Amino acid sequence: MRRPYPLFGARWTGILLMILGLSVAALATALLPQPAVAAQAPRPIAQTAAPNNEMCLACHAQQAMQVPLDSGETLSLYVNGEAFKTSAHGTKEIACVACHTDITAFPHPEKTAKSARQVTIQFSQTCSQCHSQEEKLTLESIHQMDIDGGNLNAAVCADCHNPHETRPVAEMTKADIAATCAQCHNAIYEAYKTSVHGSALIGEGNTDVATCTDCHGLHNIKNPTSTLFRNETPKLCAKCHTNAAIMDKYGLSTKVYSTYVADFHGATVTLFENTDPDQPTNKAVCTDCHGIHNISRVDDPSTGIALKKNLLTKCQKCHPGLNENFPDAWMGHYIASPTKHPIVYYINLFYQFLIPTVLGGMAIFVISDFTRRLIDRRKGKSHA
Ligand code: HEC
Ligand code: HEC
Ligand code: HEC
Ligand code: HEC
Ligand code: HEC
Ligand code: HEC
Ligand code: HEC
Ligand code: HEC
Ligand code: HEC
Repeated sequence: MRRPYPLFGARWTGILLMILGLSVAALATALLPQPAVAAQAPRPIAQTAAPNNEMCLACHAQQAMQVPLDSGETLSLYVNGEAFKTSAHGTKEIACVACHTDITAFPHPEKTAKSARQVTIQFSQTCSQCHSQEEKLTLESIHQMDIDGGNLNAAVCADCHNPHETRPVAEMTKADIAATCAQCHNAIYEAYKTSVHGSALIGEGNTDVATCTDCHGLHNIKNPTSTLFRNETPKLCAKCHTNAAIMDKYGLSTKVYSTYVADFHGATVTLFENTDPDQPTNKAVCTDCHGIHNISRVDDPSTGIALKKNLLTKCQKCHPGLNENFPDAWMGHYIASPTKHPIVYYINLFYQFLIPTVLGGMAIFVISDFTRRLIDRRKGKSHA
């Protein structure tokens, strides 16, 4: 049942526009047997042929056209016909009614959506007719789970793709993708924008860096606070950070993953990931030291973690009550060399020689002793 319209003015504007629209529609398509008369309710449009887009746009291309909703919101009914024609759908001559399958004539069937948000969610269900691949992926996404759980603000198709104006995705840049997410995740976007990744993308148009979907996936975005996601973070970062074709351009080490895995934190996380991916780890992963959306250059003078004081605060999250020298216990990603961590380097070197020498010496000793005894025994026998 419809509530009486609270917006008296809007209703009359709506009706006047409807009437105006009807006359234009009649002229454009000659579908109406006679022009609508003022102060009369719009007459039904007899449906002689499949409705074409011009017929719909005769009414809906009018900018001021709107209708009140039960929620008290006003729904704009305007569709930009020119933008539609040049959109990914318009250029393929997709009909309005291919998506709006329940509308074939005027008056339209009674609306069931009570709010603008319900309109967006309900109407987005039409996309699966032709894009079942994408729909299948979204069914497993955190956004869909949030919607199912009652959080209607989570994203559906029409939030990320304006259905009337969407362009081919090939025209979409990595920065456009971040801007799409920013509509609803603005605080994260603001942090990201100043990070080493975000500032390169948005400031310099550098597409080597990670945008939101490089880390979160696209239609099947998963819960990033899960154990599984946390355990897989090192591999996520390694995708780019072990790729020499990318990292050489920036003079960055490609050993950050292998040195991490060799480290006592990484060794444990990797073990967990392989044996029991759902087992939570309390050991540090990349983002515990580097940050998440606010990752900065390691030598950034204010936030860089190559500076001991900045690194210490990260270690203290898990090793409370540490003193300033604690980070020295960790070698970072550096491989010990005569210039970096020389003590570790020479101790390693020493062991590299010592162990083969001692063990080898022992082996030679044991073997020669054994041979000697064997020979002696033989000799003894033959003498006997
Ligand atoms: C005579 C003018 C007129 C024509 C022609 C017309 N519409 Fe509408 N349309 C309206 C009005 C008025 C509303 C708001 C009231 C209502 O929902 O009935 C509306 C609402 C809508 C809505 C929003 C909500 C809903 O489901 O009711 C959609 C979608 C829509 N029209 C699509 C179309 C399509 C597709 C066509 C072409 C097949 C079309 N319209 C032709 C006047 C028109
Ligand atoms: C690719 C599918 C698709 C096509 C093609 C399409 N629509 Fe829509 N339309 C939608 C979706 C989805 C919404 C809901 C958008 C929202 O509210 O976020 C919508 C909403 C609307 C509305 C309600 C107002 C609004 O913007 O929410 C009107 C009116 C409308 N469409 C008319 C048309 C007309 C006229 C055409 C043809 C020129 C058309 N549509 C073509 C999918 C489509
Ligand atoms: C959270 C935002 C978001 C949601 C929700 C979303 N998409 Fe997408 N979609 C994107 C982005 C961003 C791209 C472009 C990716 C690129 O440029 O590589 C894309 C790409 C596409 C493509 C191009 C082919 C492809 O798969 O890359 C289609 C078709 C598509 N989406 C349809 C849909 C449909 C249908 C739905 C709903 C079932 C949907 N999308 C939901 C953001 C979204
Ligand atoms: C009647 C079938 C049909 C429906 C329904 C439909 N689409 Fe499409 N869509 C197409 C066709 C055809 C193309 C052009 C495909 C191409 O160029 O490869 C397309 C292209 C797209 C693209 C650009 C893809 C690319 O690779 O550049 C996006 C994004 C998209 N649709 C989203 C949507 C969304 C969102 C909905 C629901 C609101 C929707 N579509 C409903 C048929 C449809
Ligand atoms: C229409 C608004 C909207 C858009 C657009 C949108 N999201 Fe969301 N997203 C939400 C809402 C609402 C939630 C659930 C509440 C929350 O945790 O923030 C959510 C949840 C998430 C979560 C899970 C958060 C958690 O703590 O579980 C991730 C990850 C996410 N979105 C990433 C993205 C990415 C990446 C994009 C762009 C491709 C995007 N979102 C676009 C509204 C949106
Ligand atoms: C370099 C990889 C990376 C990039 C780029 C990235 N994220 Fe994340 N994001 C993560 C990780 C890792 C987490 C999990 C954090 C945790 O452990 O709580 C996360 C968590 C989230 C969450 C849920 C937790 C929260 O803080 O609310 C949302 C929502 C989210 N990201 C959205 C986005 C959006 C939107 C963008 C783009 C502006 C983006 N992310 C870019 C890696 C990334
Ligand atoms: C899509 C590829 C990609 C992914 C995924 C990625 N990065 Fe990056 N990252 C880059 C590129 C490219 C740069 C260099 C940017 C520049 O210098 O302008 C960079 C720079 C950095 C820097 C700054 C190094 C310095 O001091 O200059 C850190 C730290 C970093 N990334 C950490 C991470 C972490 C942690 C993750 C995972 C959560 C991650 N990155 C995921 C591509 C990526
Ligand atoms: C996310 C939590 C976390 C962060 C952040 C973290 N660690 Fe650890 N670290 C651990 C856990 C858990 C262990 C294993 C402790 C155990 O098995 O007793 C560990 C073990 C160690 C050990 C081995 C000696 C010992 O106590 O067992 C050293 C050294 C160490 N961490 C140094 C650091 C340094 C330096 C930093 C900062 C750069 C740091 N950690 C940051 C969680 C963390
Ligand atoms: C326990 C803390 C910690 C963890 C865990 C950690 N890093 Fe680092 N990372 C640092 C510190 C400190 C530096 C700066 C000094 C150095 O290079 O060792 C650094 C430097 C870097 C750099 C800059 C390298 C260069 O060439 O200048 C990148 C990129 C990076 N880390 C990525 C990662 C990735 C990817 C992971 C996970 C696989 C990771 N880090 C795990 C602390 C950490």
